[in-house]
Amino acid sequence: MPRFPQSFLDELADRVDIVDVISDYVTLKGSGRSGFVGLCPFHREKTPSFSVSADKQLYYCFGCHESGNVFGFIMKMENVDFCQSVRILAERAGMALPEGDGEKGIGKEKKQRLLQANRLAAHYYHDMLYTPEGAEALAYLRGRGLSDGHIRRFGLGYAPNDYDALTQCLKQKGCDAGELMEVGLSVMSDRGLRDFFRNRIMFPIINTYGDVIAFGGRVMDKSEPKYLNTGDTPVFNKRKNLYGINIIKKNGSKRAILCEGYMDVIALNINGFDYAVASLGTALTRDQVKLLHRYCPEIYISYDGDRAGVSATHKAIEITRQEKIKAKVIALKDGKDPDEYMRDYGPQAYSDAMNSAQWGADYLINQELAKQADSDEDKARAAYNASQLASKYSFDTIELEMYLRRISSATGYSLEALYRNIGKSQTQEAVSLTQEVVLPQQIKKESTGDSAQLVQRMLLRLLCEYPSLCEIAAKEQLEQYFEPGFRRELLLMLTEAGREKQRITQQELSMIYVEDAEKSKEIGAIFFEEMQFVEPRTYFRQCILTLKKDRLLRKREADKQRLDRYVRQELYLDEEQLRQLVKHMGELDAQIKKIRLDAQ
Ligand code: UTP
Ligand code: MN
Repeated sequence: MPRFPQSFLDELADRVDIVDVISDYVTLKGSGRSGFVGLCPFHREKTPSFSVSADKQLYYCFGCHESGNVFGFIMKMENVDFCQSVRILAERAGMALPEGDGEKGIGKEKKQRLLQANRLAAHYYHDMLYTPEGAEALAYLRGRGLSDGHIRRFGLGYAPNDYDALTQCLKQKGCDAGELMEVGLSVMSDRGLRDFFRNRIMFPIINTYGDVIAFGGRVMDKSEPKYLNTGDTPVFNKRKNLYGINIIKKNGSKRAILCEGYMDVIALNINGFDYAVASLGTALTRDQVKLLHRYCPEIYISYDGDRAGVSATHKAIEITRQEKIKAKVIALKDGKDPDEYMRDYGPQAYSDAMNSAQWGADYLINQELAKQADSDEDKARAAYNASQLASKYSFDTIELEMYLRRISSATGYSLEALYRNIGKSQTQEAVSLTQEVVLPQQIKKESTGDSAQLVQRMLLRLLCEYPSLCEIAAKEQLEQYFEPGFRRELLLMLTEAGREKQRITQQELSMIYVEDAEKSKEIGAIFFEEMQFVEPRTYFRQCILTLKKDRLLRKREADKQRLDRYVRQELYLDEEQLRQLVKHMGELDAQIKKIRLDAQ
């Protein structure tokens, strides 16, 4: 894994404290060295099951089982890869990155220079607004209801109608021509470098760290394209950012309005809805939803009321569903966007529309039901489509039942018929969905041997903390009790290390598997809980005995079933076979009894 030297990673891990880092994202309560708890940022919950251990430098959620070290946390939270998580944490710890870090990222210094160019450009554009050249632009913004305060808040500006004014100015301030091209501020033409944005109102796009990462520029007349945007650059990926996210982060708002355009965000702000973002002229992506949801659990989709907006709304509902997020939809009549809506009907009307926002699933189902005219065929089609939607978009059985009831009363089809239509019987559906909700993922996957799983985890933990136990592990050929998989991989690794008189710590394991979310979860499950082993050796042996006993009991049960079938005359055994079977059961009984005695 590491493209960074181990010594660097070790030092970094020493310098950053997981409790400090996580406290930036989650309100943690707790006392002492180890126990901190808060609301899990990775799943919805009302009571805290997200725990952070300072001792182990590990987090673990007892609800969703998400787990990992500080790097894993940043990877998941900021949605970045391992290398980027190292960069973020190194920056925080004030550590310079080692040389040669530039294969994929661009290096910290370079990035800083690119961001600096953007920052200077934003200032330049902003100042321009208040010069005679920018008078028309300023008048345009005022005409759309913006005060100087709003203009400042969004850092709006004006790109003059000049060939290379910005390029020249930034070059004078020490920016490198190549870098100006890299961030998309300047482009090469046959007469040399020229400004990319000309004669446009400028909207800087600012990330959650307050860096200006890109721009959008609007014309002031009817010419095309209406908006020109920075393309993807080393510091900007439009699929991963949102316009206005910086303001949401600053406000600490728990809800967000997701709209289409720059001006919608601004108009909403002007009218007191200062928690709006826009998805930068592309279809909404899962990364954008993740980013938004990190700050705001409550998401309102507020796209334009026109045809394109409605179809974008459908897509947005689907994207949020994929992220397991229930979003609400604000439906605006007369094909208007939020800005026009408030202008024409007033902010109160928008607020009303927001108050009557529907859950995504409701919105889709109601649209489908509204399509039915009086013919039987129409009704059937509406019932069919609506129940398919209900099945796809409800998050649990209760919700599904609620939707199907509503569809039933709207279309006249029986609840049973609707359940059949989605390929489920009412009761079956209830069972399978509850299982999905109640059982944590890990247990679901390994439906057999829950107790064996717990014991295996205990053994691994002991082996890691007391490497000398590897002798017992080897003698007992412990791997025979571990089915192929990650726990077995850990077992072999820890036994091997113990044999070489080496020790692999839990922190090291967390690091080795930092890039694998599933394995990190398992490590959390093995190591997280506070435990004191008074007699590790005895405890270790008892765990092994438990596994042995479980296996014998399973064999015993198989024998017993054969015998039962014989008694019921479902299985033929000749006399010799029968004698063998009974004898075998006797032997198993004796072994089980012996283990029970040993374990006492
Ligand atoms: P709209 O055309 O709906 O513009 O595009 P708007 O936001 O309502 O802007 P105003 O009110 O006319 O000033 C919605 C969004 O789509 C992107 C922009 O992000 C815009 O805000 N877009 C639109 C572009 O990127 N390029 C375009 O040419 C048009
Ligand atoms: Mn508009």
